[in-house]
Amino acid sequence: MENLDSWERKERTRDGAEYVIRPVHRDDVDRERKFIDVLSERTRYERTMGLRHAPSPHRIEELVHVDYKDRMAFVATVGDEGAQRFIGIARYVREGGRGCEFAVVVADEWQGRGIGAALMCSLIGYARAHSIPALDGVILATNSRMVALALRMGMTLRMSESDRTILDAFLSL
Ligand SMILES: CC(C)(COP(=O)(O)OP(=O)(O)OC[C@H]1O[C@@H](n2cnc3c(N)ncnc32)[C@H](O)[C@@H]1OP(=O)(O)O)[C@@H](O)C(=O)NCCC(=O)NCCS
Repeated sequence: MENLDSWERKERTRDGAEYVIRPVHRDDVDRERKFIDVLSERTRYERTMGLRHAPSPHRIEELVHVDYKDRMAFVATVGDEGAQRFIGIARYVREGGRGCEFAVVVADEWQGRGIGAALMCSLIGYARAHSIPALDGVILATNSRMVALALRMGMTLRMSESDRTILDAFLSL
């Protein structure tokens, strides 16, 4: 069994605030729920492409109970053990036959401070180390921050054939 602790690291935002990036744990259900609960309408909209309903308790457990292979998530956290909370999450899911889809979200007050980029670097490094051949995802064309982040990560972006408001992002690993 791989030592997941080696994927944990201390980080600083561009303006110097300390936080930690680590693999998600099975006991993070409550932290995940609280994180999702406080996201703004806009962030939620950009993350889910318009799907507005809150995830069910079962869905939240699914998001946290990853298998560290085909389903993986890194979380950015602040606060000590007892009071730790999430400020960002990046994940990928590989579903049989289909590609490996990524998604990333950072808490509103922490956006634009380098956390999304740091989370994606961890996720991409982990995917590479676990022989994931490529990551793909969908981004609203108006989501300039995610577009900038995807380009910075070396992704190629193409307008979706079925919907011109959406960009298909792809990164070969
Ligand atoms: C998209 C998102 C994950 C990016 O994370 P972040 O921590 O805010 O982004 P970062 O601070 O790491 O910045 C990433 C890039 O965005 C750009 N950026 C930062 N602030 C920006 C702003 N106000 N406007 C436009 N671009 C901006 C920068 O160019 C930066 O690249 P750089 O490091 O080369 O300067 C985050 O903003 C978010 O959660 N948005 C809502 C949910 C979402 O859209 N998820 C994506 C679905 S796949």
